[in-house]
Parts: sequence; structure tokens; C-alpha cells
Amino acid sequence: MRSAKQWIALKTLRTLLLVPILVAGVVSVQAQSPLYGVGRTPTANEIRLWDIAIGPKGEELPVGNGSVDMGSELYLSKGCAGCHGTLGNGGMAPRLIKRDAGPNADPWDYGRVLPIRSPYATTVWDYINRAMPLGAEGTLTADEVYSLTAYLFFLNDVVEDGTELNEKTLPQIQMPNRTNWEQVPDWLPGQPRLEGYPY
Ligand code: HEC
Repeated sequence: MRSAKQWIALKTLRTLLLVPILVAGVVSVQAQSPLYGVGRTPTANEIRLWDIAIGPKGEELPVGNGSVDMGSELYLSKGCAGCHGTLGNGGMAPRLIKRDAGPNADPWDYGRVLPIRSPYATTVWDYINRAMPLGAEGTLTADEVYSLTAYLFFLNDVVEDGTELNEKTLPQIQMPNRTNWEQVPDWLPGQPRLEGYPY
């Protein structure tokens, strides 16, 4: 059994411990957003830096141009070959060149290769722009991304040798897998996302 004195001492200790926590809470709430008490409003510049996604129509693409020829040089000089293999296969990273699946093959038979399976050319540009070269993401200029995209399309017979691409011509490329994707049904609140999908 604790004595009355001990109880008072314990209560005082608890109150003393609470005070700094409450003070800290008030101070941090003031520095944060009034609604939820967390975070802060991003600056216009921060939003600009995050806002790099390119949609299927390519309206957000930066002005620039590149060529298959430039892309084949950049593929070596930017280290792509080191991970993906000199010819787009045989490296430690996923292959970037389609498999030989014979004439009239379904594009899915070419393997899991972005420059051929993607329904939109702009998605390939966007992926390289934001994610490659792995370890030095964000270092490629827009022209370099147009060139590398053109080169990977050439390797996969999507465009011919000598092709040049810019913000106008890239979105016009008809990808071989364009109509070969299952359409996701429209979603309504409360419905599962896909039939049989648990969430
Ligand atoms: C350090 C190794 C490394 C380097 C260098 C590198 N990549 Fe990759 N790349 C990867 C890895 C690993 C993946 C798979 C990432 C994943 O699936 O999450 C990948 C994925 C890709 C894909 C998508 C493949 C697919 O079918 O999904 C493309 C396209 C690509 N890289 C292009 C490039 C280009 C162009 C360069 C040169 C500018 C480059 N990569 C440099 C490692 C690398």
C-alpha cells in the first residue's frame, strides 16, 4: 500500500510531466495547418518541382527534341548499357528489347518490356524522365529523354531508324499494345474496384 504522501508525490510528478507535453503541443500546432495540425502549405516552387507527371496526351511535355542516333550514344554514355546490357538485354536490370515471338505475335508475348507494352509513348518518356538512370534520377535533360525514348522505340521496331521525336510527334506514336489492355470499369463510391477484388 502507498502512503498518502506517496500518492501526492506521484500525482505532482504526473502533472509536472504533462506540462511540457502540453506546451510542446501548443507550440507545434501554431506552426502547422489549422485544420489538422500537421504539415504546411507547399510553396509554389515545391509544387512545380513535384508536378512532373506526363499524361497520355503529352500536353505537359516540355519543348525539346531528340533522335534515335543521339539516343544510341546516350544509351552508352549515360550508363544505361551497364545495367540493361549493351543491346538492351543480358544486364542485371530488366531487358529493354522485346523477345523474338515470331510474326504476328501478340505484343504481350514480347515480354515485360516498357517501350513495347506501354499503351502510350508518353508513358515511356515519363518513366525515363523520372526514374532513370537509376541512382542519378532527374539528371537527364528533356532532349536526352526524347533521344533515349526514340532509341528504345527503334530497338523495339516501334519507330524506324533515323526518327526524330519532339513534344508534338511523341504523343502521336501508335503503340502496338494500345488497344490490347483490359479496360477498368468505371468506379462508383462503395463498390469494390474490380469484380472479385476485396477492397
Ligand atoms: C544502376 C542500374 C541502372 C541504370 C544505370 C539504368 N537503369 Fe533502367 N532500370 C534499372 C532497374 C533496376 C529497373 C527496374 C525498376 C523497376 O522495375 O522497379 C529499370 C527499369 C527501366 C525501364 C523500364 C523497364 C520495364 O520494362 O519496366 C526503362 C525503360 C529503363 N530502365 C531505361 C533506362 C535508361 C534509358 C537508362 C539510361 C539513361 C537506364 N535505364 C539506366 C536499372 C538501371
